[in-house]
Amino acid sequence: MQTLEKPDLDNLLSDEAINNPFEFYTKLRNENPVYWNERWNGWIVTGYEPVIAGYRDAERLSSDRFSGPFGKEILASKSDYEQLIHFLSRFFVWKDAPFHRQMRLLVNQAFTPRSVEALRPRVRELVRDLAGSLRGRDSVDFMSEFAFTLPVIVIAEFLGIPPEARFDVRDWSNDLAGVVFTAGNAEDRLKIGEQAMVKLVDFFRPIVRDRMKNPKDDLLTRLCQIEDNGLKLNEEEVIANAVLMVFAGHETTMNLLASGMVAFDRFPDQWDRLRADPSMVKSATEEILRFDGPIKGLGRWAKEPFEFFGCDIAQGDRMLLMQHAANRDPAAFENADTFDIGRFPNRHAAFGQGIHTCLGAPLARLELHEALEYFATHFDRVEVLNNELKYAKTIVARTITGLNLRFV
Ligand code: HEM
Repeated sequence: MQTLEKPDLDNLLSDEAINNPFEFYTKLRNENPVYWNERWNGWIVTGYEPVIAGYRDAERLSSDRFSGPFGKEILASKSDYEQLIHFLSRFFVWKDAPFHRQMRLLVNQAFTPRSVEALRPRVRELVRDLAGSLRGRDSVDFMSEFAFTLPVIVIAEFLGIPPEARFDVRDWSNDLAGVVFTAGNAEDRLKIGEQAMVKLVDFFRPIVRDRMKNPKDDLLTRLCQIEDNGLKLNEEEVIANAVLMVFAGHETTMNLLASGMVAFDRFPDQWDRLRADPSMVKSATEEILRFDGPIKGLGRWAKEPFEFFGCDIAQGDRMLLMQHAANRDPAAFENADTFDIGRFPNRHAAFGQGIHTCLGAPLARLELHEALEYFATHFDRVEVLNNELKYAKTIVARTITGLNLRFV
């Protein structure tokens, strides 16, 4: 096994790794695109080709959080975290075949491109309402006034969560972030995660029971009704999926909106380009996803020993597939560090690849397209006011901690 004596490159939570991941992971990629990190005790994959190969290799690389090395911490104190384990272990994103395949087939039926497209008029209306008051003010807290609020309302309405409960649900879902994104002290985050899960389940269970008897036109009802060859989601699975959707549906999209604004501030010529031709919102969205996507990387573990890009992977080894780094790999993208909203082709890895490819990608794209179109047709300039941008201390998510903007 190759070991590098470069402790600065081993600390994935150092200030440099968190606040300037591009330079940090470029250094790592230059050492080796598949790099053994002693401190994290696993492989850090930063090259485009191996990241894509890793995502596509669901045969040998497992996503199962509860049967491999990732589950040890939580399962060590099983009785303290009963609800957390019960429902997280039903998140199909953390399952392998055949369970994942069955769940994904069912959920695909509820989350169709058509059901997402039907949200467009409402998303447009929400963008207009939220962005209408942004222009001309000295400073706008972009996260709380727009980036946080839009995706929360959209996913809550799509699911069928009553308006008065949507911000409670969001808060509980945020409390799960420590567990899902493995940020912070282990004991605290598991405790907070357990409490949050209890609240989410207490909230969703009566609504799900009601939808089973009294169907409505919402995603929760569709999750209750979907059937494939006699297979259906049971009550626990509907609740777990609802929690997964709330979680997956807002934090990522929020960060994508924020990264987009930061990128346009750094590359004002690209902002002018978008303003001159707002039909570029689609390719601009793909470029924001590539240039500074909301998920830096995700974990897998090896079900069997195998050779991977010249490295000997042992059974049980952990692997971190860093799509953030892959998306800046000069071997895959010309001028990889340049933000170019007309980039084509743009085969970025921001939504993952293979069997777990993001289910909500069409929804995230729709929200970005609508927001960017409004901004490009209503604002001459967008300026970042923060002297320095700070990001949350997590390996997985690219979460900006505050963003003050001026819209001119
Ligand atoms: C910009 C926004 C988003 C990004 C960058 C993103 C990224 C990702 C990535 C990388 C994965 C793959 C996970 C893996 O391979 O382990 C994933 C899966 C998933 N995403 Fe997203 N996501 C976004 C928005 C959304 C939204 C809006 C939803 C809506 C509900 C959503 C729901 C899901 C679900 C349910 C999965 C699991 C799919 C499976 O395991 O088959 N995501 N997402």
